[in-house]
Amino acid sequence: MAGSIIAVAQQKGGAGKTTLTAHLGAALAGLKRSVALIDIDPQQSLTAWHAVRTARGDAPPLELRQISGWRTGSEVGRLKRDFDVILIDCPPHGETDARAAVRAADRVLMPIQPGPLDYWAAKQTIEMAERERTDFVLVLNRLPARGKLAGRIREMIAADGLKAAKATLGNRQHFASAIMEGLGVTELAPRSTAAQEITALAKEVVRGL
Ligand SMILES: Nc1ncnc2c1ncn2[C@@H]1O[C@H](COP(=O)(O)OP(=O)(O)OP(=O)(O)O)[C@@H](O)[C@H]1O
Ligand SMILES: [Mg+2]
Repeated sequence: MAGSIIAVAQQKGGAGKTTLTAHLGAALAGLKRSVALIDIDPQQSLTAWHAVRTARGDAPPLELRQISGWRTGSEVGRLKRDFDVILIDCPPHGETDARAAVRAADRVLMPIQPGPLDYWAAKQTIEMAERERTDFVLVLNRLPARGKLAGRIREMIAADGLKAAKATLGNRQHFASAIMEGLGVTELAPRSTAAQEITALAKEVVRGL
């Protein structure tokens, strides 16, 4: 697992990239992995979360670098010597920056909200990962508690010969409220369903998806 580099990328805005990166980072740290986060999104939302986290003074420290996308390759080269997992939060647009992260990564996690429009919109990012020859896994995010949607989307993914993580994330208030506190959901509400979901994903990541 040493030096696993994971880009969280999805060109569709608001798919859950930053949410996934923050909670997965905290969850992996909770599983005793050393984690470094890289924020290459000019919106700097992950960096803002990290600033809240640092200011509270009681959260386990997480390494974070805020850099321009084109520097990802060299930054990752340095960090992978010292950290088990490096998570890169990519911007929604800015194709060149996201591509640099996808190229530097061992694999890409692509959060998608479970709807056909979101799935079709993910095709661009999928093609990018394929061109860069980086393994990728879709992560179903904001899954409704009821209904057949998740099953249908999984069928579409399988029919296209693509891979989705077994773990899924529901549409849960805890994911947003923990971010507000500068925490991961495993830290704010360790017994919540949200915490169980992100821990399941973290374990898949540790196992190598
Ligand atoms: N599983 C979830 N449950 C509840 N709210 C969620 C979930 N995932 C994401 N959100 C909310 O959706 C919004 C967008 O999420 P987020 O900022 O993580 O997406 P993003 O892909 O990083 O966006 P951008 O493309 O702008 O970087 C946020 O308000 C976040 O709190
Ligand atoms: Mg984001």
